[in-house]
Amino acid sequence: MIRSIASLFFYARFLRSFSTLGYRRAAAEWEDFAPDFGGQTWLVTGATGGIGRHTALTANQHGARVIALGRNPEALAKLKEAAGYPRRLLPVTVDLSSIRAIVELPDQRAMKSKPIDVLVNNVGVLLNQHELTGEGLERSFATNILGPFVLTEALQSEQRFSGKALVINVSSGGMYGSPLVTEAMNCTDARHFDGMAAYARHKRAMVALTRWWNSQWQGAPAVQVMHPGWVDTAGVQTSLPWFQRTLKPWLRDAEQGADTIFWLAEKRPPTPGEGGIWLDRQLQPEHEFAFTRNNGVALEQLVAYLRQCAQQVLESPAG
Ligand SMILES: NC(=O)c1ccc[n+]([C@@H]2O[C@H](COP(=O)([O-])OP(=O)(O)OC[C@H]3O[C@@H](n4cnc5c(N)ncnc54)[C@H](OP(=O)(O)O)[C@@H]3O)[C@@H](O)[C@H]2O)c1
Repeated sequence: MIRSIASLFFYARFLRSFSTLGYRRAAAEWEDFAPDFGGQTWLVTGATGGIGRHTALTANQHGARVIALGRNPEALAKLKEAAGYPRRLLPVTVDLSSIRAIVELPDQRAMKSKPIDVLVNNVGVLLNQHELTGEGLERSFATNILGPFVLTEALQSEQRFSGKALVINVSSGGMYGSPLVTEAMNCTDARHFDGMAAYARHKRAMVALTRWWNSQWQGAPAVQVMHPGWVDTAGVQTSLPWFQRTLKPWLRDAEQGADTIFWLAEKRPPTPGEGGIWLDRQLQPEHEFAFTRNNGVALEQLVAYLRQCAQQVLESPAG
């Protein structure tokens, strides 16, 4: 009961900004811009559906060579067919919840031939059912935060980014519901699993990692974090069917959700030193509620925890 009331409060608070109403209100102030990604290589994770698919196709349309990562080869083939410039759309089949598969990605031919100018860490799932990956990780933890962490660090250590590269992390407004904690981030015990709470923790960690990488890498590459608002995608239909049904008229389409990705890639605003998260081309605060300000862990602890989780997988015998 308390939980339902808290959810209602949460959704009511953000209805005006996260819905299509918020997008339209913000967009009324914008000047048109025509992005030019000619000559750039983009890497988009979770590119076969929703916001990732729209991002891959639009970047391709505006000149980019796009390496599209997804786990479903048929959906990747359809993505290539749908591309305006299919020769510049390079599908790579990979399960982005597999840490072993992710560490091998920088050696793929598509990644080696040209440096990456824009990495969009888009893949993300909110799971209602508890699942473990073959590597023994809770699946949403592996997909939402450990996988993007390992991928981005691997690309950086293998020097796969270009000199002016940008990493765009796709978080969620759901992160406003969680402080930064590592406890229960990888919930391997089904009895204690709460998919929504886990998702909020992962997305909060994504915001924190953005600040960490900027402090470590000093702009090479630059790292930004955004969230798309509430977008009507297959992911939302599956994870939050009641939410999707109730709010359908106010949900954004993928174009509206992805807009800030293109704006960040084209306009390259400075990375915010004090933190923050982009929504509709505007920097928003990292915290909306006092209880999330008291982080349970420091950034260094988060990073050490993620490194340890990855190491455990990579050092264990392959199953
Ligand atoms: N939609 C929203 O309202 C909303 C709000 C806030 C934040 N976001 C964030 O925006 C991002 C995109 O969300 P979305 O709504 O577009 O999601 P979506 O509709 O579920 O699409 C996600 C894509 O990722 C792929 N994917 C999932 N797990 C994968 C794995 N292990 N390996 C490879 N590919 C995998 C899916 O492919 P399959 O078809 O194979 O599963 C699908 O193509 C996520 O990070 C999400 O958290 C979305």
